[in-house]
Amino acid sequence: MRVLCFGSLNIDYVYEIPHFASGGETLAAASFQRFSGGKGLNQSIALARAGLEVRHAGAVGRDGLFLLEEFRAAGVDTGYVEVLEDVSTGHAMIQWAPYGENCILLYGGANRRVTREQIDRVLSDFGPGDALVLQNEISELPYLADRAKARGMTVALNPSPMEDGLLPLLPSADWLLLNEVEAAQLLGGLGKSVPEAGEALAGALAEALPSTAVVLTLGPQGSLCAQGRRLVRREAVPVRAVDTTAAGDTYTGFFLAGVLSGQSVEWAMEYASAAAAIAVTRPGAAPSIPSRGEVLAEMER
Ligand code: RIB
Repeated sequence: MRVLCFGSLNIDYVYEIPHFASGGETLAAASFQRFSGGKGLNQSIALARAGLEVRHAGAVGRDGLFLLEEFRAAGVDTGYVEVLEDVSTGHAMIQWAPYGENCILLYGGANRRVTREQIDRVLSDFGPGDALVLQNEISELPYLADRAKARGMTVALNPSPMEDGLLPLLPSADWLLLNEVEAAQLLGGLGKSVPEAGEALAGALAEALPSTAVVLTLGPQGSLCAQGRRLVRREAVPVRAVDTTAAGDTYTGFFLAGVLSGQSVEWAMEYASAAAAIAVTRPGAAPSIPSRGEVLAEMER
């Protein structure tokens, strides 16, 4: 089995602010940092640090060449990333509040220049038994999911940011990994009622998507996996969070690395929870993602 992550690469500009800026307000930042990020890049790095061999496909402008260095350092294959001359790399402006939470403004840039031709070219190298990991920060996502399914690939989708345009491709997902906000948006978009409790929310998603395994992350309340009527819950590892950016991406990468390498859902959830717990104690997106060794040591404790 080969693993392909086809997704965004962003430059993250992180501003430390006392509270999230509101309309009409001018707010001074206490610090500024630049990190590598993008849900696609973060998840590829998490998959690689979790122990899988990963190929990444996507697009950057010339200003994003340093992101490819970050991939190489993590052992991610960059052969399917296109470098475009006439567009800048995608970026995110992230407000980072002292209580560890963030507010993200995205500019797609090169991520929105993924074409059907690039998709056809990349997917022609993959087939049955291979896995595709997707988020919602690149162009042509419905086409990509559809073509991957037609080639017999296993599709894992993190529908983030969630939007109604994703609804038709949800049944193509073998694995769906999302948070409570995205879950509520998804159920609302399908015209279903939205339960408040995590278990009921995961159950409602599994009922709406009978051929999909749903993994719902609940932050400090842990995570749930619903497959048909089967529901597994795992607690989060308690830590003091300094920056929650990329916690979901870290969970996604480590969880998928677990199940795609043949581990049980229960073990993969513990692996992913330990990884996400470490990531939130560190600033930044990709740089906060721990190694397999660090995560296994955390699981031993
Ligand atoms: O999930 C975190 C990521 O979301 C950040 O790295 C940012 O680039 C946005 O894509």
